[in-house]
Amino acid sequence: MVTRAKAGQSGSPIAVLVVHGPNLNLLGEREPEVYGRTRLVDIDKELKQLGRELEMKVETFQSNSEGAIVDRIQQARGKCDVLLINPGAYTHTSVAIRDAIAAVNIPVIEVHLSNVYRREPFRHHSTIADIAHGRIMGFGAESYSLALRAARTIAQESRRQSG
Ligand code: DQA
Repeated sequence: MVTRAKAGQSGSPIAVLVVHGPNLNLLGEREPEVYGRTRLVDIDKELKQLGRELEMKVETFQSNSEGAIVDRIQQARGKCDVLLINPGAYTHTSVAIRDAIAAVNIPVIEVHLSNVYRREPFRHHSTIADIAHGRIMGFGAESYSLALRAARTIAQESRRQSG
């Protein structure tokens, strides 16, 4: 459990929470020409495996509900080093998820399977882009593993800075 590791404590493993938003539970079946054929369980399994290799604790969470996502982000306060989030369609609409991210003060990497800028204009706006540490998109399932590697760099750097 990520919650056992006090975030930021040197010596404790880097703890990362991965949040998947609405409809991502259908990955593999949902519009495979856009999102690929990898299922969410396989993405989560691979992230946990990569986490073990990199000596990081990886916890994953998916919900179709905006409030549940806000609750999960709030629970991560003080307990995780980096948050990876693919808010799905809430990327383009949710002030509540943005506010939750701002409130918990955890560095965030915004992740998308597709390159949203190659798609409809309504997908070009993100409510969290300007408060994210960085954004990774367009690499299908690999977007997540790239983001996890970046999370490690961010956490190591912030631990170095806080001594
Ligand atoms: C998505 C892009 C969003 O526009 C869309 O609503 C999703 C998935 C992506 O990962 O490419 O559900 O976040």
